Amino acid sequence: MTRKNICIYGEEVLRKKTKFVKTFDKKLEKFIDDMFDTMYEANGIGLAAPQVGVLKKLFVVDTLEPGEKMAIANPKIIWQSEETWGMKEGCLSIPGVEGEVIRPRVIRVKAQNAYTGDEMEFEAEDLLARVILHENDHLNGVLFVDHLTSSDRAELERQLQELAVA
Ligand code: NI
Repeated sequence: MTRKNICIYGEEVLRKKTKFVKTFDKKLEKFIDDMFDTMYEANGIGLAAPQVGVLKKLFVVDTLEPGEKMAIANPKIIWQSEETWGMKEGCLSIPGVEGEVIRPRVIRVKAQNAYTGDEMEFEAEDLLARVILHENDHLNGVLFVDHLTSSDRAELERQLQELAVA
């Protein structure tokens, strides 16, 4: 397996829209293995393809809870609970920056298994739901700092600027 370079805040690719995955082959399998490898190496619990410079609707997650390791392609959030909760988030593309994000507590997801292309539909809650929503945002060029309150964002602005020019 190969570790990929993780793109950092300020790089254009993190703000671009992604394309649907259409071909599920050996090459994609290898790419997904590399994504897991890269994520574990960086001690992350989620990593989306745009973060390694690939504009595809694909991400990997592993909350380290049983059954919560997944490689997901072409996800769609088909339902989300009205109930929300806040938690401090970080992002491998925004090192050293953390901020509280409010997200739905439970979601229903329609997607494809990124290894096989098999359709799947499932419910996720709490941390898994949060990670999936965070990674799904990456597929739309959205970063967690976009969800912060304006005062939280203002506090982090300098750190973000420093990352962007580095
Ligand atoms: Ni992220």
